Amino acid sequence: MVDGSRERCKTGIAGMDSILDGGIPRGNTVLITGSCGTGKTTLSLEFLVHGAIMGERSMYISVTEVPEKLLENMIDYEFFDKKLIDEKKLIFVDLQEIYVKLGLEKLEFTLEDINILVEQIVKMVKELGVERLVIDSITSICYRLTSKEEIREFILHLGKELSELGCTTLLVSELLPSAAGYSQYGVEEAIADGIILLGNLERRGDLLRTLQVIKMRGTTHSRAKYVMDLTSIGILIAPLLKGGSVEVT
Ligand SMILES: Nc1ncnc2c1ncn2[C@@H]1O[C@H](COP(=O)(O)OP(=O)(O)O)[C@@H](O)[C@H]1O
Ligand SMILES: [Mg+2]
Repeated sequence: MVDGSRERCKTGIAGMDSILDGGIPRGNTVLITGSCGTGKTTLSLEFLVHGAIMGERSMYISVTEVPEKLLENMIDYEFFDKKLIDEKKLIFVDLQEIYVKLGLEKLEFTLEDINILVEQIVKMVKELGVERLVIDSITSICYRLTSKEEIREFILHLGKELSELGCTTLLVSELLPSAAGYSQYGVEEAIADGIILLGNLERRGDLLRTLQVIKMRGTTHSRAKYVMDLTSIGILIAPLLKGGSVEVT
């Protein structure tokens, strides 16, 4: 800690760490939100891979895609090394398997079920010493919760426990293209320590991907909109030059 400022979790994504004045404050729970195809999974994976390279144990909990498929996306990256997985610096967990193990193969969760799930995630983080966690997506877990109160309880409980363990967490949130706000239920965005919004922008016939930090507790940050390019050397972030753009959701 320097001058009382919070220790940072460097994303390793160059432009992003400077937008965040050094990185995500450690222990924050951050919503990565945007509609389909905006790059949420790509950004989350890159955050974990850089963490693993820096020696931090990183865990990806996948709700909708099988880990093998995600691996295929990463193998193309120049900075990716399969050794990270063999050495268990980078760990993939399939949430469906956890549901089976916990007897949670049901369409609707009770408050007790939620607590069981949170405790299981916290247990894995604690036992394995996980410093970076991604849950992709939180929205698909929230589908099983029956009220906003349950969603609030789930995210609050999870965020609090993970923060106490010093684990920096990205919660991927799926937005419908036409949605207002930053999350499907409106609750997630109010509780999260940070919100990073990914979007699309049409400019002179090109469809650009954009990134904007809406909020981030524990640091000053730019709130400007940036262009985000997905490339084989990773995500590149550049300032968005004004003029000639149309927002598409
Ligand atoms: N390195 C890359 N270079 C170019 N395109 C990419 C790269 N990685 C992912 N993409 C493309 O970006 C799109 C969206 O990625 P993804 O992260 O899965 O979005 P989301 O999780 O928001 O739905 C996909 O169509 C994918 O083909
Ligand atoms: Mg995705």
